[in-house]
Amino acid sequence: MGRQIIQSASVFLSPTGTTRRVVKSISQGLSMRPRFFDVTLPMDRDRGVPLEKDELLVLASPVYGGRLPVLIRDYYNRLAPGKRPAVAVVVFGNRGYEDALLELYDLCVAKGYEVVGAGAFVGEHSYSHVMGKNRPDPADEEEARRFGLAVRQTLLSDHCLSENPLLTTARRPYRAYLKKFSLALSTSRRCANCLSCVRHCPVGAFINENPRRVNPDKCIMCAACLKLCPEGAKFIDDDDFLDDMAALASANLDRKAPSIFLP
Ligand SMILES: Cc1cc2nc3c(=O)[nH]c(=O)nc-3n(C[C@H](O)[C@H](O)[C@H](O)COP(=O)(O)O)c2cc1C
Repeated sequence: MGRQIIQSASVFLSPTGTTRRVVKSISQGLSMRPRFFDVTLPMDRDRGVPLEKDELLVLASPVYGGRLPVLIRDYYNRLAPGKRPAVAVVVFGNRGYEDALLELYDLCVAKGYEVVGAGAFVGEHSYSHVMGKNRPDPADEEEARRFGLAVRQTLLSDHCLSENPLLTTARRPYRAYLKKFSLALSTSRRCANCLSCVRHCPVGAFINENPRRVNPDKCIMCAACLKLCPEGAKFIDDDDFLDDMAALASANLDRKAPSIFLP
């Protein structure tokens, strides 16, 4: 019989903008009336997501340490439950996505959503200009559009995605969260006090909106301030961290492909 779906609601967290771009490409492939809920900033999360009947839900998130960031996991857990088709999307920085996609799939199933597709796409790594450099690129965007189109076709059937293909690479219980580390984030004299970092912070971590003062208890280390500073004035002043990132980058220079899962 198939499902009569003509509208999509795409919800995403995207501190450095790559998840947003993947979601937009998927939406083009879906060719439905699109609604977008960028819940990156605190005020956007305050507004909530009023889901409509007969709407395809696309839930997207970056991967942090092979998991979903706690912030978005908790937010998605508060979405209204019920029977509706959903797509799970994660975006990773060309290293790996481990359990993040399974975690998002499980979250959808626990809500009663019928998962009609899942995908892990690549975006330039939040901490690097080398890992996944400039991705999603045109080839990724094309792949994301094709994924959207395939989901649209899947909706014409009553099929749902089983967990089995996801379990070939992911495990329950999921891997432990990254240990909370405090970034030694510094600000150079290039800072023009434009407050771009303050405005783009997903958790309001800048104390008194001062670009040089970050509350480490609030900071989720998403690197939005670092990547989005128009003057390139933010830098990490920690040799161990920079060495680790350089090693991570040199081990992940190969081009990782997106993973697509359909029923
Ligand atoms: C704290 C943190 C942890 C991350 N962990 C991973 C990881 O485990 N694997 C990976 O490939 N990329 C990892 N990344 C990179 C992001 O998943 C990737 O850059 C993603 O495209 C960022 O999405 P955004 O641009 O929407 O913020 C991590 C980034 C951050 C900030």
